Amino acid sequence: MSRRLEGLSALITGASRGIGFAIAREFVEQGARVFLVARDQARLEQAAAQLGDSAVVGTYACDVGDAIALEEMFRAAEEWAGDLDVLVNNAGIHLGKPFTDYRLDEFDRVMNINVRSVFRLMQLAIVHMRQLQGGKIVNVSSTAGRFESANQAVYNASKHALNGLTLCAALENAPYGININAICPGMVNTDMWDSFVKEAATRGVNGDMLRKGVEARIPIGRFIEPEEVAHIAVWLASHEADGMAGQLITISGGMRMG
Ligand SMILES: NC(=O)c1ccc[n+]([C@@H]2O[C@H](COP(=O)([O-])OP(=O)(O)OC[C@H]3O[C@@H](n4cnc5c(N)ncnc54)[C@H](OP(=O)(O)O)[C@@H]3O)[C@@H](O)[C@H]2O)c1
Repeated sequence: MSRRLEGLSALITGASRGIGFAIAREFVEQGARVFLVARDQARLEQAAAQLGDSAVVGTYACDVGDAIALEEMFRAAEEWAGDLDVLVNNAGIHLGKPFTDYRLDEFDRVMNINVRSVFRLMQLAIVHMRQLQGGKIVNVSSTAGRFESANQAVYNASKHALNGLTLCAALENAPYGININAICPGMVNTDMWDSFVKEAATRGVNGDMLRKGVEARIPIGRFIEPEEVAHIAVWLASHEADGMAGQLITISGGMRMG
């Protein structure tokens, strides 16, 4: 059976660990070449070494929140890939706080990384993909982008904004053969959970108790694994999903079904 992403090249942000790394691994298994982006060069190289040689895996250390560095990174990805068929906007940060505790600089930091950088990267990729007469963009959003949530208003707002960008860009670019969709995971087993635990600790909530409480609200009784998110990303990046545009696909183990 032929692999589902054979011959395709993909740029994946936040690809050194967590969901982004799982996506990169599944993409390589399905025949894609992958260009991995994160801030920590050493972690990136470790990740790349697990995936394949430099013909298959490229790396670029960059803070996507730095607009100039982001642009340079995209040009490097174009040069490495030739045709860049797939963009996965996965890099994101979580910052949880009660509503009135967020500082404005924290608001700006979350919005810069979770929304502004994605907006710019989508613009750059869309221009490139229009020349190719097609492409796929997969944004990693969150159930926080679809529903209300306590003590993470700014993160929640950033993911709502990301979903809005996804729908509008999908509408304008579907006629050019560019399929743009988002995945909205619920709770996923990654380092990001540490951020929830730290925030809860400031309110005197124990991390183990928090975890049990969250799991009790997930109908399948457990967190999602990064690979489960990656499987959806593979499908959205493949020609099997040529008919998909502007869809926000939730994977949450049944938590928030609506
Ligand atoms: N985990 C969850 O429960 C969950 C649920 C819903 C949605 N999500 C979303 O899924 C995405 C991935 O989350 P995750 O849980 O896999 O996170 P993670 O384990 O914290 O990994 C984040 C990845 O992004 C990179 N990164 C962070 N900030 C960056 C920046 N400014 N520039 C470039 N790279 C950056 C990190 O590497 P460096 O630190 O080296 O830069 C790392 O590779 C995020 O958009 C998140 O909002 C996660």
